Amino acid sequence: MTKRYAVILAAGQGTRMKSKLYKVLHPVVGRPMVKHVMDQLNAIQLDKTVTIVGFGAEKVIDTLGNVCEFAVQEEQLGTGHAVLQAADILKDLDGTTIVVCGDTPLITEETYRALFEQHEKEGASATILTASTPNPAGYGRVIRNKDNEVERVVEHKDANAEELLVEEINTGTYCFDNQALFSALQEVSNDNAQGEYYLPDVIEILRGQEKKVSAFLTPNFDETLGVNDRVALAQAEKTMKQRINERHMRNGVAIIDPDNTYIHPDVVIESDVTIHPGTIIKGETTIKTDAEIGPNSEISNCYIGEGTVVKQSVANDSKIGNRVKIGPFAHIRPDSTIGDDAKLGNFTEIKKTSLGNGSKISHLSYIGDANVGDNVNIGCGTITVNYDGKNKFLTTIEDDAFIGCNSNLIAPVTIGKGSYVAAGSTITNNVPDDALSIARAKQTNKEGYATKFKNRKKD
Ligand code: UD1
Ligand code: CA
Repeated sequence: MTKRYAVILAAGQGTRMKSKLYKVLHPVVGRPMVKHVMDQLNAIQLDKTVTIVGFGAEKVIDTLGNVCEFAVQEEQLGTGHAVLQAADILKDLDGTTIVVCGDTPLITEETYRALFEQHEKEGASATILTASTPNPAGYGRVIRNKDNEVERVVEHKDANAEELLVEEINTGTYCFDNQALFSALQEVSNDNAQGEYYLPDVIEILRGQEKKVSAFLTPNFDETLGVNDRVALAQAEKTMKQRINERHMRNGVAIIDPDNTYIHPDVVIESDVTIHPGTIIKGETTIKTDAEIGPNSEISNCYIGEGTVVKQSVANDSKIGNRVKIGPFAHIRPDSTIGDDAKLGNFTEIKKTSLGNGSKISHLSYIGDANVGDNVNIGCGTITVNYDGKNKFLTTIEDDAFIGCNSNLIAPVTIGKGSYVAAGSTITNNVPDDALSIARAKQTNKEGYATKFKNRKKD
């Protein structure tokens, strides 16, 4: 089988983005564009992949990790010059090289595969992935001769009035015979409107050498969007989001309003989960069957168990059990674990806390750095006083304890199994199992004092 290589162009600064962040690192549905490109290419068996980096090289290398080799383009002199930087690694090898731009995040594995297949079947020297659009502004136009063969690509800025009318565009993706590519690149000049070495000029050079040049016209223009500015970035976000949401819906997930639901690529959702509008689900999150998420919730890196309901809430880096009720307006901060059948009601915040099975924090509480056992009831307004300004301290609340409303538990402290804390207590010492602890000022009633008070004479 023919050996296959890839070159990803990721050295451009992306001035049109008007951003400190390098273009190919801008996220689309939470993932840098260049990583989307790499993910799709990775699904194809490739013998070598070289990413061309320049601006922000270290950040791009960090983002992609060791899944490919890198070549540095010190000065961004154009896409043709960029590919030449891979010459040391690739130029003598036999096989097919796909060249892909790091700013076309929507092209799918299937399209890459189809391009490879047509190119190899036809024995072409070059095959351009093209697409047709009534709005080709900004793209290079594919110029064909009267026999409908591809002759060359003309950049928007170099095109004459007639060429500007052409609706077939260069997607910036090509398959080449590897050695023909590197030899033709030697002949590319920078005599054009932008003073750059254009990769698409290789097409005309190869034709001049009587080599076969072909095009693969994809019907999916949507996939080929090149992201040069923030307007295109928002379009890419929309298309990618829709693609991900449709995948989940086909797998049996109910998404009430797909236009207002944002699910990042690695999220796993089982069938019969319902996602309400305004929900963002990020990172490595798993949601088990029959759960209901949203409206207006943000979940990041969480495991959410079967039948759990999360309404108008935020949860990060935590594990939530089965049949748990969360919200409205709860905040689950990192490193928390919530047991089955637990409840976290409105305006409760937990952090680095494990909450046992069947335990309830129904309203207005802050529980941080705490180990809470099973079937504990934490009353409204309870606070674990975990921080002295320097260090954090642990609160332990054992099984079946009952914490009355508006209590301060000053950590480190342990509330024993089955014990009661009276409402309004400030607990500074451990409470033994099965005890009732009352830690509040004693009430004094002054009989008849109210009337006396009201009848005071004015001065
Ligand atoms: C390019 C094509 C155009 C095509 C379009 C598709 C050229 C000359 N033009 O135009 O025909 O329609 O893509 O989206 O190729 N890059 C480098 N080094 C450089 C210059 C660019 O690595 O010196 C990288 C960029 O990071 C980017 C990619 O190459 O990922 C494409 O460059 P860009 O400047 O966006 O080219 P376009 O003007 O979009
Ligand atoms: Ca581009």
